[in-house]
Amino acid sequence: MSGIKPFPIPVRTDGSEPRTDPWYVVPGEPLTGVRDVLLVASGKGGVGKSTVTVNLACALQQQGMKVGVLDADLYGPSVARMLGTDTALEQDAAGHTIPAVGHGVYAVSVANSIPPEAALVWKGPLVAQTLVDMFRGVAWPELDLLLVDLPPGTGDVQLTILEQIPVTGVLLVTTPQRLAQVDAERGVALFHDLDIPVFGVVENMSHYLCPCCGELQPLFPDADVATMARRKHVPYLGALPMDPEGQAMADSGRPLVVSRPEGAVGLAFTVLAKAVGEALERERRQALRDADPSTRAAHEAFWERLMED
Ligand SMILES: Nc1ncnc2c1ncn2[C@@H]1O[C@H](COP(=O)(O)OP(=O)(O)OP(=O)(O)O)[C@@H](O)[C@H]1O
Ligand SMILES: [Mg+2]
Repeated sequence: MSGIKPFPIPVRTDGSEPRTDPWYVVPGEPLTGVRDVLLVASGKGGVGKSTVTVNLACALQQQGMKVGVLDADLYGPSVARMLGTDTALEQDAAGHTIPAVGHGVYAVSVANSIPPEAALVWKGPLVAQTLVDMFRGVAWPELDLLLVDLPPGTGDVQLTILEQIPVTGVLLVTTPQRLAQVDAERGVALFHDLDIPVFGVVENMSHYLCPCCGELQPLFPDADVATMARRKHVPYLGALPMDPEGQAMADSGRPLVVSRPEGAVGLAFTVLAKAVGEALERERRQALRDADPSTRAAHEAFWERLMED
């Protein structure tokens, strides 16, 4: 581990000791300097969450936002490799981890602290502690948006984050396959139950971009993610084709949005980034309205009048 500075992970045995670390904040407080936190989730594994997180981050950065990515997939971290940020991270004088920067995006992952050959084994309390350290023990610059790449499903990682970190919304990624859609529907149900705004469903690998003829062919001709999204009352944010070059690009740390912005996938991400930017703006306006007592009172009075009429 020489030269590698791991996150400061104080291991507690009984869970009851009060935290004294200077950067520890009472759970639930907003992250300093970070305006919005957007989770990228899926029910099934391997549907493209990390690909979407990294490319979306680069597309939003290209559209003028200051963006960070937190790789919360402690079991299979992909972000550092995909963004080309798989280097050891330094710490500042206050002991905060300084994020790496790849293609203008600030990024932190456990892959920055743990060598690739080491096994990633996490017991419950360590998951929570490591996540809190990754969110709050990092010297994030002023960010418009922190995208969080989640592991699949609805387990410890998701629940810890929802418990500890104020989240603006969530994007759900699915492939058109019915199996993946069913799990995505469960994800929508969880986030609805927890009152977390679902910005929408992203359909990944909808089509195959044929390298011979350049034509787009549907991978699951009978699948219909848009209808599923309508049924669950969440926006359908569009389809991303499968581009065989995407894998090589991901391995080389150059997301398609950066390496081939004019390709079918690059263009699809530009459209997705615009939709996400608009959804963030809507949430922000709504939060401002909710925070203003006179606007809230006027809003309630309007609905009362409407119900009486
Ligand atoms: N649109 C696409 N075109 C080509 N390859 C893709 C596309 N989307 C994802 N992939 C590839 O599919 C594989 C799985 O994608 P990715 O790692 O993003 O999924 P994931 O949902 O994050 O997986 P996990 O649940 O294991 O974290 C990767 O090899 C990735 O490069
Ligand atoms: Mg992943």
